[in-house]
Amino acid sequence: MVDSINRLEPNLVVITGDLTENGFSAEYDGVKGFIDRIECKNKILVPGNHDSKNAGYVHFEDLFTDRYFSRNFEDVTVVGADSSQPDLDEGHLGRENYGWIKEAFSGENFKVFAMHHHLVPIPLAGRENTVLVDAGDVLELLNRCKVNLVLCGHCHIPWVWNLNNMLVVNAGTFCSSKTRGKTTQCYNLIQADKENSNGNWKVRVSRVFSKGDRELVTETVM
Ligand SMILES: [Fe+2]
Repeated sequence: MVDSINRLEPNLVVITGDLTENGFSAEYDGVKGFIDRIECKNKILVPGNHDSKNAGYVHFEDLFTDRYFSRNFEDVTVVGADSSQPDLDEGHLGRENYGWIKEAFSGENFKVFAMHHHLVPIPLAGRENTVLVDAGDVLELLNRCKVNLVLCGHCHIPWVWNLNNMLVVNAGTFCSSKTRGKTTQCYNLIQADKENSNGNWKVRVSRVFSKGDRELVTETVM
């Protein structure tokens, strides 16, 4: 996986959580060894529900980053938020976070929001308890902020929805064997190119599989 990502020479790598099974210190140390080998100076991580078990969020903050943040990379703004709750599986963002998220997205950049839990339901998720408990309000907030791209993890199901010209892209799993149904191990490759003529962005979402083959899933202009 590391070699595959490094060959792409990405500008940005986003890891949407569940780095660990139980949030223990030794697990975090192990996964950090892999993440450090990803040769990209802009790595964005948000914790998942498994990472917050056993107070694992403490190790997450020590080894990686704040759990809530906003970063600007030239003409791209990335906001990350911890949607986990210690020792609970369901996701929650919370009204107390809506204000700073809106502020962070106030510019005209290409806007990316990263969190672990699902923003909208996706197929193969079974009994749907994987979306944020405040999903409706967060969906409206991100849409109002004209967010271009929402990146989620959690159920290891690769999927893309295009909602009001906002791409909601769920990640599969590449390293674990926890694939659902007939999905196979993969990660998402997102290519966003600004069109000089009109300032629009051409966005392509592909899946990269373990043997290196690639499948284009969506291509859109926004
Ligand atoms: Fe999860």
